[in-house]
Amino acid sequence: MPIDPAVLPRHVAIIMDGNGRWAQDRGLPRIEGHRRGANAVSEVVRSARQIGVKALTLYAFSLQNWLRPPDEVTMLMRLLREYIIGERAEIVDNGIRLVTIGDLGRLPGLVRESLDDLVRDSAGNQAMTLCLALSYGGRESIVATTRALCEAVKQGTLSPGDITEESFQSAMQTAGLPQLDLLIRTSGEVRLSNFLLWESAYTELYFTDTRWPEFGRDEFMRALESYRGRERRFGRTREQLRRLG
Ligand code: FPP
Repeated sequence: MPIDPAVLPRHVAIIMDGNGRWAQDRGLPRIEGHRRGANAVSEVVRSARQIGVKALTLYAFSLQNWLRPPDEVTMLMRLLREYIIGERAEIVDNGIRLVTIGDLGRLPGLVRESLDDLVRDSAGNQAMTLCLALSYGGRESIVATTRALCEAVKQGTLSPGDITEESFQSAMQTAGLPQLDLLIRTSGEVRLSNFLLWESAYTELYFTDTRWPEFGRDEFMRALESYRGRERRFGRTREQLRRLG
């Protein structure tokens, strides 16, 4: 049954955790977990698009992930490139706009090239935005924005008094995305791990024990169902919300 758009989160973010443990539980190399994880990405992107979610942000590679063994980093970069090339038609033909957040300058040239191509070629799409967080850190992105605003003040193009919550948000890499409604984390850990720290101030959180490679459409629907039952008060009382309708 389709979910009423009024209770559908517009922007969902996912911390896709548990690839390594999924593989290790089966006596497989960790990279096999990442490979299966990439399949889960395809399924969840397709589902989100079909259901009518307007933006989906995926934590595909954190700044801290650069510290993993070099072989694993190389394989993750290869998988990412394969995903971008393999899913190109699916993304372009289904009206999905690809964007990225993070320090992309650190990605290998071949990955950047394929990303830049798809970002450019999907820029006019409007059905859903798929945002890949790559070489991303939440604290680092707040620091980068602060630095850019300080530069503008130094140049005389911005006055400190004009720095507000709204103007700060407008200077963040996530400026073009809707407010973050729902954040999902798989595989049993209950923490944010430096993901979307600024953006998640009023976000509903959903944690599941399911490992990311086994997270598919059904589990995604369960997360949306859970969101539907939440009462979002944004600091107000229940009575105030009722009066506001
Ligand atoms: C966390 O699992 C997952 C990652 C660090 C990378 C996520 C990558 C993918 C889902 C595949 C490639 C991405 C795309 C967009 C195609 P983990 O290795 O930390 O799991 P563990 O905690 O069980 O070790």
